[in-house]
Amino acid sequence: MAIRTTTLTPEQKDRIRRLNWFNEARFGMFIHWGLYSILGRHEWVMNRERIPVEEYEPLADQFKPKPFPARAWAKLAREAGMKYMVMTTKHHEGFCHFNSELTDYCAPKRAAGRDLVAEYVEAARAEGLRVGFYYSMMDWHHPDGARCKKDEKARRRFVDYIHGQVRELCTNYGKVDIMWYDVSWPLDAAGWESAKMNAMVRKLQPDIIINDRSQIPEDFSTPEQHVTASPEGRAWESCMTMNDSWGYHAADNNWKTPRQTVGYLVQAAAGGGNLLFNIGPKADGSIPSESVKVLRAVGAWMAKHGEAIYNSDRAHLEWLPVGQFSVKGHTAYFHAFNYPGSEIAIGGIVNKVVSARWLDTGEPVQFDQKANRLILKGLPEKTPDLIAPVIALECKGTPRQVLGAGCVVLK
Ligand code: GLC
Repeated sequence: MAIRTTTLTPEQKDRIRRLNWFNEARFGMFIHWGLYSILGRHEWVMNRERIPVEEYEPLADQFKPKPFPARAWAKLAREAGMKYMVMTTKHHEGFCHFNSELTDYCAPKRAAGRDLVAEYVEAARAEGLRVGFYYSMMDWHHPDGARCKKDEKARRRFVDYIHGQVRELCTNYGKVDIMWYDVSWPLDAAGWESAKMNAMVRKLQPDIIINDRSQIPEDFSTPEQHVTASPEGRAWESCMTMNDSWGYHAADNNWKTPRQTVGYLVQAAAGGGNLLFNIGPKADGSIPSESVKVLRAVGAWMAKHGEAIYNSDRAHLEWLPVGQFSVKGHTAYFHAFNYPGSEIAIGGIVNKVVSARWLDTGEPVQFDQKANRLILKGLPEKTPDLIAPVIALECKGTPRQVLGAGCVVLK
């Protein structure tokens, strides 16, 4: 992203430096995995079905995943064109996948008998992916997790526990690229001592980026289940489920299609943001086959069209009935989701178009540009790509579009 750095403070410059890879990445994999995966009824099952801790906790003695499931997650993520992963190290249920000295409610000390965060980190690194840790501050298992709001001694113990675990995560696994906090119920930022916690994180991991869910904005925003750009200059990442649950849900079959997924990805890229797309592995660590299918299809599209997504700039271009733009430098990428065949008419491009080509083959596309109408011509009747073929338009200057009344005179 071309950001003028001359008038920035050292803190702002450092943030841009730390966010550099993130702004290039555009596509990541979210993984929700926990004891709830055994029940297969959504990651909120403990809360929504009012399952008491005494009944829920023994699930930890059944949670025994097959060897190294994270290798298959990481391989699939790479094949899908994703550049990073974010795994639930502890979700609201309180069970930790990592080895914690602060609790026995963790994978290495229960049936699994091993550190599943360590496996995840190793697998992600082996595929060349960046590593993020999701960590829920809200905790339904810890005895102080709710009463900390009204009882100062409980708050002290609970905040020490949370900070202590965040310290473990930032100390025991080498370089961590993202700290992805979630739900900070029931305290406020002062109660959580979030500023102190994040200062510790930065001391331990000077290159890390931190999300906005510890009640401090930090490095990036996290719109959930919708793709909405943050104000310009602010990094953001939309997180989204592939069906309607984050954790494995055996009966939830409302899967997004590859086309919808690419649509969200293009929308994120066009807004200068990322898409963090979720899988909910089963208790043994295997990925639901529907998720594999979707991600493979998206990966095939990305292999041909990734140039239009990675390191994209914020596009100052409008939606069109036929498709949508993403932009990088002086190139506008037109994603023809509703491919009409033979001709595509694009209104309002203010720049002179220097060349047009199919992004996958590099073959030139014929075009006419008269005033504010650009006509792409001689196109095949049938769509060259079942999700969305992409035509790259090289423009003079940063692509801009004006769709008000009247014609814009080209210079
Ligand atoms: C919500 C949900 C949680 C999920 C998260 C992902 O906060 O409580 O289950 O992990 O969103 O962003």
